[in-house]
Amino acid sequence: MFITIEGIDGCGKSSQSKRLATWLTDRTGRTTFSTFEPGGYPEGRALRKFILESRNFSPKSELLLFLADRAEHTKKLIVPVLSLGYNVICERWNESTIAYQSGGHKLDIQEVRRLIEACNFPEPDAKIWLDVPPELAVSRMLSRRKHGIKAPGDKFEEEGLALMQRVSEAYRELAESGQLIRIDCGEADKAEVFAMITAELERHLAH
Ligand code: TYD
Repeated sequence: MFITIEGIDGCGKSSQSKRLATWLTDRTGRTTFSTFEPGGYPEGRALRKFILESRNFSPKSELLLFLADRAEHTKKLIVPVLSLGYNVICERWNESTIAYQSGGHKLDIQEVRRLIEACNFPEPDAKIWLDVPPELAVSRMLSRRKHGIKAPGDKFEEEGLALMQRVSEAYRELAESGQLIRIDCGEADKAEVFAMITAELERHLAH
């Protein structure tokens, strides 16, 4: 199984991804690898830092950098791991690119889709969207930063609430057209969100 987790910055993807890996291993009897984008493969650190910290790229160049990162991730990790019969859970995939580069940074959606399609990346078995209100996600992010858990420097977060609202709207459109499984997180805590995700996945796996 290949499962992706989507959502705006600060939506809680990382902690859900880790719990979900344990659950999926038990549920399927197969080892599950957790990974993330950008940069979730052995040599990906440098590209991640470069993408997230560079300040002078146009949205189009950023789009191409995210796709280059995905191409490496696919070749170095996703395809090899899936072909060995293991599961993969990945934080962010094509839907991040649609939501951020098109919804968030206003690139033409058809052009973004065309470029993604040309790359022919593997299609996940299930794509989950953690729908957290942008105001809540942004305030959680600021408080994590205040407590020194997350260092400043990610330019995508600095653009703040307005950007997250546009990204969230783009995710909503994807969910409404059946391209994402929406988890209505509201103010639910981690355990409640996890229960909603596994319930949805059980339903999905049954089909
Ligand atoms: P991530 O590490 O998931 O940040 P966070 O943990 O704060 O959610 O992602 C880093 C940033 O990269 C995030 O702001 C979203 C952005 N991004 C894109 O804009 N397009 C993409 O295709 C991907 C994969 C990420």
